[in-house]
Amino acid sequence: MTHHKLLPLLSLIVAAGCTGELSQTAGAGAADWFAGAPGATPASPHMEAVLAFRGSRIVVEKSCLSCHTIGDQGGTVGPILDQLFNRRSEEWLRRWLKNPNDVKPGTKMPNFEFSPAEVDELLGFMARLRKDIPRDEILASEATLAEKGQRLFAAYDCLACHRIGSEGRFIGVDLTWVGLRKQEAWEQTWLHDPEAWKPGTFMPNVGLSGGETEALSAYLHTLQGEENEASRRWETRTLFYLGGSAQAAGEMVFKRFGCWGCHGLQGKAGDKNPNAAPAERVPDLWGVKNRLDEAAIRRTIREGAIPGRLNPSGPAPPFSCPSWGTHLAGRELDNLITYINTLAPKERVWKFQ
Ligand code: HEC
Ligand code: HEC
Ligand code: HEC
Repeated sequence: MTHHKLLPLLSLIVAAGCTGELSQTAGAGAADWFAGAPGATPASPHMEAVLAFRGSRIVVEKSCLSCHTIGDQGGTVGPILDQLFNRRSEEWLRRWLKNPNDVKPGTKMPNFEFSPAEVDELLGFMARLRKDIPRDEILASEATLAEKGQRLFAAYDCLACHRIGSEGRFIGVDLTWVGLRKQEAWEQTWLHDPEAWKPGTFMPNVGLSGGETEALSAYLHTLQGEENEASRRWETRTLFYLGGSAQAAGEMVFKRFGCWGCHGLQGKAGDKNPNAAPAERVPDLWGVKNRLDEAAIRRTIREGAIPGRLNPSGPAPPFSCPSWGTHLAGRELDNLITYINTLAPKERVWKFQ
């Protein structure tokens, strides 16, 4: 990848409204931040911790903000780090800082080769990045289950990794259409313990109670594409600036509809799908063009497909391919097919990947 192509991409994603105001100089120390406003005090101990982390020596020197947002400032390539310690343990963070690639092979996060002292220094700041989640208060409030779920979703900062419409990040699966593709019962299983469903997943276990997973799943189920238009407009703008090809446009559609939530990143590994024939997995899409003709691929995407049962008297598999036909507009299906046709070994790969 060439840098003159990548830089506009990064700045564009930042400019496209995924982050808050970029009013402060990246890396400004916490002290500078408060110095500007006479008599100002940090809004909360949490905000104080966020600003201290953002202004810390290593974060400034290594330009962590070129990829991460901390306290409403920074890039959108990585997760928002404000609530890091609500979701990651010290032990996990030590492993991550030692070598991100050992935890998540292929990650875009560089190995900074921190010394043990630097890891300790970073952890000193990170350990304070915890926010009190008013979980009991939210659950006890006078609101529908889905509304409580929505408040929990915001409180846990799930958009630190996920995306709905034009808000959030692309680290987790785009949730704009999650209510259409996944059942509430499965959501609960997943949220309770992602690692139990998918060993090695990057989705953290934030220690949700049964009541919380129930409320969150009810909320997620309401996400049936209302924000699709906002997302589509964002994509169109982004692609315009990138001089986007049909393939790049197709990849965005693939992300927006959350195809990778079942078929894996780049369609490379289908999720497990108990009792689905033949292999109890969602099929991967890697090289699918060599197995199916284009008409069949189009038909599956438009009309959906329900897998057969491996054991006919066993339960229905949790995942079917949703029918996307009525939700795809204009050239979206064609672009999707162009992208899927590149998902095969030894094909040319989109240069931004
Ligand atoms: C080139 C972009 C880039 C830079 C620079 C970068 N990171 Fe990251 N970081 C990422 C990405 C991307 C992820 C998420 C993993 C993935 O999807 O590959 C991540 C994940 C993390 C996580 C785990 C977050 C979570 O919620 O689990 C931490 C902690 C982190 N980075 C800290 C840092 C720190 C500290 C710095 C600066 C010393 C830094 N990163 C610099 C791209 C970057
Ligand atoms: C550190 C990043 C991160 C955070 C924070 C995070 N997730 Fe995730 N999430 C992921 C990743 C990555 C996946 C994809 C799992 C995989 O394939 O390994 C995922 C998958 C999911 C899925 C499945 C989506 C689908 O359609 O397949 C749901 C639902 C979900 N997350 C909900 C949440 C909720 C609710 C929160 C907040 C409590 C949350 N996530 C916080 C990274 C994150
Ligand atoms: C909820 C999980 C889920 C999601 C999300 C999903 N699929 Fe599927 N998909 C499946 C399952 C399960 C099958 C297998 C159906 C069968 O056995 O007939 C499948 C089959 C397919 C096939 C045929 C593959 C083959 O080898 O038979 C294609 C192509 C496909 N999906 C494309 C997509 C695209 C494109 C998207 C996003 C717009 C998508 N899928 C989203 C679950 C999903």
